[in-house]
Amino acid sequence: MPLDNQKLLDVRSVDAPANSLPADGHGHVRDLETYKAMWKESVENPDKFFGEQARNLLVWNRDFDQVLHKSANFVDSPAWFLNGQLNAAVNCVDRHALADPNRIAIIYEADEPGEGYTLTYGELLKKVCQLAQLLISRGVKKGDVVTIYLPMVPEAVISMLAVARIGAIHSCVFAGFSPGALRDRILDADSRVVITIDQGLRAGKVIEAKKIVDDALESCPDVQTVVVVERTGKGGLIPGRDIKYGEAGKFKPYCPAVPVDSEHPLFLLYTSGSTGKPKGMQHSTAGYLLGAALTAKHVFGLTPGDIMFTAGDVGWITGHTYAVYGPLINGVTTVIFESTPVYPTHTRYWDIVDKHQVTQFYVAPTALRLLRKYGHEEIEKYSLKSLRTLGSVGEPIAEEVWEWYFHNVGRGRCTICDTYWLTESGSILGTSFPGVTPMKPGSCGYPFFGIKPVLINPTTGVEVDERPAEGVLAIANPWPSMARTIWGDYPRYQDTYLRPFPGHFFTGDGAAMDHENFIFVAGRMDDVVNVSGHRLSTAEIEASFLEGKLDNEPMIVESAVVGIEDELTGQAIVAFVVLEGWLKDKIAAGEHTVSDMSREAIQVVRKDIGPFAAPKKVFVVGDLPKTRSGKIMRRILRKIVSGETDQLGELSTLSNPQIIDDLISTVQNSA
Ligand code: WTA
Repeated sequence: MPLDNQKLLDVRSVDAPANSLPADGHGHVRDLETYKAMWKESVENPDKFFGEQARNLLVWNRDFDQVLHKSANFVDSPAWFLNGQLNAAVNCVDRHALADPNRIAIIYEADEPGEGYTLTYGELLKKVCQLAQLLISRGVKKGDVVTIYLPMVPEAVISMLAVARIGAIHSCVFAGFSPGALRDRILDADSRVVITIDQGLRAGKVIEAKKIVDDALESCPDVQTVVVVERTGKGGLIPGRDIKYGEAGKFKPYCPAVPVDSEHPLFLLYTSGSTGKPKGMQHSTAGYLLGAALTAKHVFGLTPGDIMFTAGDVGWITGHTYAVYGPLINGVTTVIFESTPVYPTHTRYWDIVDKHQVTQFYVAPTALRLLRKYGHEEIEKYSLKSLRTLGSVGEPIAEEVWEWYFHNVGRGRCTICDTYWLTESGSILGTSFPGVTPMKPGSCGYPFFGIKPVLINPTTGVEVDERPAEGVLAIANPWPSMARTIWGDYPRYQDTYLRPFPGHFFTGDGAAMDHENFIFVAGRMDDVVNVSGHRLSTAEIEASFLEGKLDNEPMIVESAVVGIEDELTGQAIVAFVVLEGWLKDKIAAGEHTVSDMSREAIQVVRKDIGPFAAPKKVFVVGDLPKTRSGKIMRRILRKIVSGETDQLGELSTLSNPQIIDDLISTVQNSA
């Protein structure tokens, strides 16, 4: 496919600032030629490349005897490091705790500035071992799934590692999810133990985490244990089921770790897809750890003594790989930040950077867009001299925001690593390398080691070789940290990722590559909307509307959810809903208004999924545009919402074209 967007060719390239180059002597890439040579070897001879890296970066209880086992034509998920055995907690904690127990592992920056504390690797080892024993005492065994419903507190990291230490599998659920969404994830994973907190604190507000868990568990009869972190000390325990996290303190400071096979699942992380049912992406132990270790080291240029601040949540993949596993495997310090970028003021990030001398800062563009609005003056008061690498993740970064990040935050001294990846990839797929590769604003640079990105023509399914070009972004080879399956549903995994373009892993994104092979990711091609870097499925929100009740009666007959561009959140969710007949009657009788119903509908999603998924706007309409076979034409709705009513395209396939004028006037009248 030729390039639609000629503008890309004009994006100028910026040299990565030499002072962001990691110090010599730690095995980093230090020039472009080395990057190119290493990348070439990694894709041409993955056995040699990744075999060496795995032995260098990870500690093994038993060495592996084969690096990569893959199916012909990449129609199955691969297996890596066969017959090797290792443990994730040992890799993240023990080896550093034994070598240098006083090194800081975690800086906890609590919701209220000044209320946090630090944990050394020695202390972390003790806490992980104690919690591991508590879990064992409650019957948790190798292979069990433990659900973690915690905000960004050190106990979240300790819990993940304690679960991994005993060979169990963690499933972190973002603590913004509602009881219903949490319940679905607990049931899908058949998880019998939950770790949570009495109350979370975020921007001075209380989050009733334990109450949400209690609600969710009403329909999870198999959950026998809830471990409760005491953050505020408020709220009761259910005798027999609940146990205070503090009880872990009764156990001895060390317990052995359970070595597991390389392919043993380390964790599940649920993510949205194009159907209503969230997918439990299952990650392996060795391959995932290697991906986390290698990318954290090279993309962020980690060197001993570094302090990495990843502002993502452990409820999402960024928190897993770059707030927990990546920095800890590399033995540096990670900042665990409980609050928001604007609490108590909008300079909170910069306060943290200067206070803790942060060297790597990693955030989603949505936060940068917000902070940029506050202007340049405040930020100029900060030194920010400790910073070397500035990461961006989760959505495309606009050129103006990139420039602001580079000049106003990085002061031209830092490399901007626009990192492209996804829950399924486990670790970064495309990025700049600090001090080494040139950068282009809006591009996530070059492929990481082991990644062969290709563009595919979506109509013909054929790889597009010419440059510049656009197409579907796919990866032509297996890499160590790719998810191995969807928990309990391998056929769905194959159908979603490996079958759409045989021989390739389908990312779900559309992208362009310019004449120099820089990758520009355009965004999702499926029904996934990216709001503030959170992946939401339109189908999941539509399913939640159907659950909505008013006076115990169903409210909504059907709905269509679309993503539209939004200045602050990247994309925003807009929904069209058709009300049940009895509600239409009440509106006709003047007992309810259309705007009441639109507010109620927003509440439905807030309650069913969580506040972060709430639609920005809900239009109550009489009918939805459908094809003769009954398929909703979301494309038309998208155009109407964005005001492009002159570009509705072909309407002849609609079974009900007469409704279009009504839809247009509903949208226009509400503007
Ligand atoms: C999008 C987040 C543009 C993309 C790590 C992908 C990006 C989805 C970038 C995955 C980037 C992620 N530039 N788009 N640098 N990084 N995306 O699973 O659409 O929460 O498919 O993983 O975010 O979101 P997920």
